Amino acid sequence: MALDFLKLNDDNSIRIPAGDLHKQVSAILQGVGTPTEHAEIVAKILVSSSLRGVETHGVGNAVRYSQSIESGEYTVPQTVAVVTETDTTALLSCGNGLGFVAAYQGMEMSIAKAREFGLGMTTIKDGHHIGMVGYYPMMAAEQDMIGMAMTNASRSVRPALGARPRVGTNPIAFGAPAGEERDFIFDMATSTVASGKIGLAKRLGVQMPVGWAVSAEGEPITEPRGDRGEDWAMNPLGGTREQGAHKGYGLGVVVDILCGVLSGGGFGAQLSGGENMTWTMAIDIAKFRDVDDFKVMMDDMIRELHATPPLPNEDGVLVAGDPEADFEDDRLMNGVPVENGQYDEMRQRAVQLGVEVFI
Ligand SMILES: NC(=O)c1ccc[n+]([C@@H]2O[C@H](COP(=O)([O-])OP(=O)(O)OC[C@H]3O[C@@H](n4cnc5c(N)ncnc54)[C@H](O)[C@@H]3O)[C@@H](O)[C@H]2O)c1
Repeated sequence: MALDFLKLNDDNSIRIPAGDLHKQVSAILQGVGTPTEHAEIVAKILVSSSLRGVETHGVGNAVRYSQSIESGEYTVPQTVAVVTETDTTALLSCGNGLGFVAAYQGMEMSIAKAREFGLGMTTIKDGHHIGMVGYYPMMAAEQDMIGMAMTNASRSVRPALGARPRVGTNPIAFGAPAGEERDFIFDMATSTVASGKIGLAKRLGVQMPVGWAVSAEGEPITEPRGDRGEDWAMNPLGGTREQGAHKGYGLGVVVDILCGVLSGGGFGAQLSGGENMTWTMAIDIAKFRDVDDFKVMMDDMIRELHATPPLPNEDGVLVAGDPEADFEDDRLMNGVPVENGQYDEMRQRAVQLGVEVFI
């Protein structure tokens, strides 16, 4: 949900055409040895994230990934290898490279298997950050399929009733195609918010709302923290016992099982920062029923939800994906806002690497 206090505006950001941002991100990654094909995949996903208003997982992260490659934390060029495989499933290794590349290829493989057998599923170990997790189900929806993706992360979120971080923010994303209406794209952390929003709050110099994080004594903290430690933790979705924190926590562990335990790559408490295991799935709608009939019913459902009378002081009822699609419509026309600091960093990095400056 677009939170007003985290919104980029003309004071704290600069608008750049999406095409130029794509070229800049790809050039920076190629500048540290990333093969063109892989740099293009990462650029596509980061620009889509920034276009959709998910700036926490957008182009501003390109410099950080290029530094992880330069330091050797990431192995590039990488080889995404098939470890085990059946008609409908595969275990892949990301080869310690860019998580985006393995997640993208993992979803492509899920889609190809679903096209043939109705269902495709991959789980991926030896991985790193995959960005906006909703991107991968969007790939399936574009192919008239239902798609899901998940990724786990190192510990930052406390279990319900717990006082220490033991689970990652572990997002779950789901996508389904619609007809005349926009595709349904639901993409959420299983913590109250993505940790990227705490980072953004810190960079914008604003306080966090009560409910995002607590101290080891369980006291709410509102000063955004940039570090990880045992003296504070993010809250699982739900936040409190009364608000259903056990549900967000439970979902977070579901993600750890499908990503970390099924792949053997490791669950939250076993991972170091920057390690992420991933899971993808695609379902071929055509194997169940006529795709056009499916989309007509999707449109009916979305319209029914949109038509719900809103609460007083609310403009209207949305469905998942609406806020991001609204951002995309605006930013394709008016340019993508990039935080001033991240804009400077990207230009400096391009000059440092001796690649062309496109922004
Ligand atoms: N790669 C990683 O390790 C990682 C970890 C955590 C989060 N993330 C990413 O962070 C991003 C933000 O996550 P978040 O949990 O803060 O998301 P969020 O709270 O902004 O939105 C979650 C979902 O709710 C939908 N939504 C928002 N307002 C709505 C409304 N009024 N009615 C209906 N639906 C609505 C959005 O369309 C979105 O699908 C996601 O893209 C996620 O993939 C990535």
